[in-house]
Amino acid sequence: MDDPRQAEGTEIPELVRTAVSALPDPAVILDAELKVVHFNQAYRRMAGLNALEDPAKGRGALLCTDLLELEICRTTCAARACIRQGRSLSFHEVRCAAGPEKASTFNVQVTCFPVASGGGPVGMVEIYRDTTAERHVQERFQRLLDLQRHANLELDRLVHERTAELRQSLEELQKTREQLVQAEKLRSLGELVAGIAHEINNPVNFIYGNTPFLKEHFAALFGLLDLVGELKSLSSTDRGRFEAAAEAADLAFIRNDAEKLIRTFHVAAERIAHIVRGLRTIGRVGGVEMEATDLGECLSATAAILAPLFKEEVRLEQKVELGETVRCNPSQIGQLMTNLIKNAREAICGPGAVDVSLSRQDTHALLVVVDNGAGIPPEMLPRVFDPFFTTKPVGVGQGLGLAICYSIAKAHGGTIEVDSTVGKGTRVTVKLPLEGPPASAEVAAPAATDSDRR
Ligand SMILES: Nc1ncnc2c1ncn2[C@@H]1O[C@H](COP(=O)(O)OP(=O)(O)OP(=O)(O)O)[C@@H](O)[C@H]1O
Ligand SMILES: [Mg+2]
Repeated sequence: MDDPRQAEGTEIPELVRTAVSALPDPAVILDAELKVVHFNQAYRRMAGLNALEDPAKGRGALLCTDLLELEICRTTCAARACIRQGRSLSFHEVRCAAGPEKASTFNVQVTCFPVASGGGPVGMVEIYRDTTAERHVQERFQRLLDLQRHANLELDRLVHERTAELRQSLEELQKTREQLVQAEKLRSLGELVAGIAHEINNPVNFIYGNTPFLKEHFAALFGLLDLVGELKSLSSTDRGRFEAAAEAADLAFIRNDAEKLIRTFHVAAERIAHIVRGLRTIGRVGGVEMEATDLGECLSATAAILAPLFKEEVRLEQKVELGETVRCNPSQIGQLMTNLIKNAREAICGPGAVDVSLSRQDTHALLVVVDNGAGIPPEMLPRVFDPFFTTKPVGVGQGLGLAICYSIAKAHGGTIEVDSTVGKGTRVTVKLPLEGPPASAEVAAPAATDSDRR
């Protein structure tokens, strides 16, 4: 038997003592006065007693609190509660102090159950389980869980961040792709229209240049006919024949109509020549001379030319916040400003305003033209830079203004963007590098052929 202690007068059954001795966990038997009656080896170790130590010797049996101090016993004595209630009680995670000076502390689970004999309670058994290691494991587990939760949160954050980055990259990629497609489409269109312009240019110039001669020739012919009609030497038969022929041919109408036709040809040829000039501009904006230019001056000169378009009900506002010059071709930039301001003005019906601003953004100059006009429907936006795309009536718009602006911006190494909301207005943003286009862009061959430029 493990170091049994038999206090005088207790009636703890022998069977209970034997059972306590056989338990692997620390266990102790207390009598009704809570004096130690018996304990096993595991309890001896836990209480910090050596093999020979006899806690009861010479002083009589000890109280349980002399060997072990349970934290809960400061408020409720577990053993007394158990005896009083006559049932087993269990206490978890109880702080326990043992050994000399109660210096060794650890956590235990304590289960007490009463021992009855001869019809009444005679004592109780306390069984301990050291849960310190378990607690350490739990704490480590909790720490691991916290670490994992933290790692999960970090992972979530990284995934979110990466997803946002990827989404942004994808959007940028799509935008770049659209811009490339648009740029390629406009490049092909630019070459096409420049080619057409080149082909049309000569015959149009021929018609335009020769209509004045045609007018003169007709005038000479009619003068000659008038002379014939006035000849006194004509016999009455010949005069009759001449007058009959003139009447049959409706000479009076021909005279009147020929003049009108020639005038119309001239106007039409002039219009075609104007279109051709626009087309040729699209094809050959590159390779022009660049010089340090004050865009503010360029803007006020353009505004002065366009002033007649702006009356009281539509204002043209200018805001110049650009201190430095820009290397560009002033006449092309003037044309770009003119086209944009005209578009903005034409979009406004009734009262409104066109705001033009010049500012700096890093290494670029920003030209922004904003109007509060009709706006552009979203399905039309991708087409506004296409040559000949126009929503204006025939004779009013040729659909070349923005195509020319695009070519000019591109030839200057810049960009042009249109944002618009139907019913609210349109914002066109042109970005030009302050230093001008890269050297390669400046000397880039225009789309039109050499002979076209003679
Ligand atoms: N500020 C604007 N507000 C509303 N629509 C616009 C604006 N700018 C351009 N657009 C639309 O884009 C089309 C193309 O413009 P673009 O300047 O190329 O040609 P256009 O003005 O029709 O003719 P052109 O400029 O050759 O006289 C216009 O017909 C119009 O529908
Ligand atoms: Mg226009």
